[in-house]
Amino acid sequence: MPNDFLSFFLSWMSAPRRVGAIAPSGAALADLITREITASTGPVLELGPGTGAFTYKLLKRGVRQQDLTLIEYGSDFMKVLQMRFPNARVLWMDAGRLATERLYDGAPVGAVVSGLPLLNMSTRKVVSIVGGAFSHVRPGGAFYQFTYGMSCPIPRPVLDRLGLRAKLVDRALLNVPPAAVYKLTRRPQMKLVTGSLAPDTSMPAAPEPMHLAGDCTATR
Ligand SMILES: C[S@@+](CC[C@H](N)C(=O)[O-])C[C@H]1O[C@@H](n2cnc3c(N)ncnc32)[C@H](O)[C@@H]1O
Repeated sequence: MPNDFLSFFLSWMSAPRRVGAIAPSGAALADLITREITASTGPVLELGPGTGAFTYKLLKRGVRQQDLTLIEYGSDFMKVLQMRFPNARVLWMDAGRLATERLYDGAPVGAVVSGLPLLNMSTRKVVSIVGGAFSHVRPGGAFYQFTYGMSCPIPRPVLDRLGLRAKLVDRALLNVPPAAVYKLTRRPQMKLVTGSLAPDTSMPAAPEPMHLAGDCTATR
């Protein structure tokens, strides 16, 4: 991987809130955020790829360049990405517009990998980014987000509103600064029980009430 410290630092100087870090992510964090992604994940959507620290790792995991869509708002980064990943789809775009852009036929994405500085954004923007990204994610797909903060960067009310749950994947203590990766998935849907509500007398009574709801826990 090329050494991008200087160009990244200069980008941060010109737009600190958007870039959100003074240096690109290191190998330990790139390893962690892509850990569950394989060649069979299918299309991957990367948000805020910067100079490509996670993108290189995704290719090493077996994701094909043709299966990668990179959404980057910084024009300097976008040019670098187009040069480095000529067969990926690189879009100069605000990730807040994901819900209104028809990026795919249907929703085939197996994983979203996000390096976006969500803690620098308004709640409204976070809702549009995360909700918009999930509109392209297939059932069972996941959204991976890193943070330098101590807890999940997507607030609990946002998870509730979007019907998502978040789980800490792990912490990359060797990254500078140390970071954590969270995995967002859809909450299981409530299943409707159809049929007669009359008790089935051929079966012994259940000892305890049965719960229909799925797991509604949010953050760990
Ligand atoms: C913290 S850097 C992460 C870069 C890279 N993923 C890494 O880990 O080294 C955040 C990236 O998100 C991009 N970004 C910030 N806001 C964005 C938005 N609304 N839409 C798309 N990209 C955005 C920035 O330009 C920057 O490349």
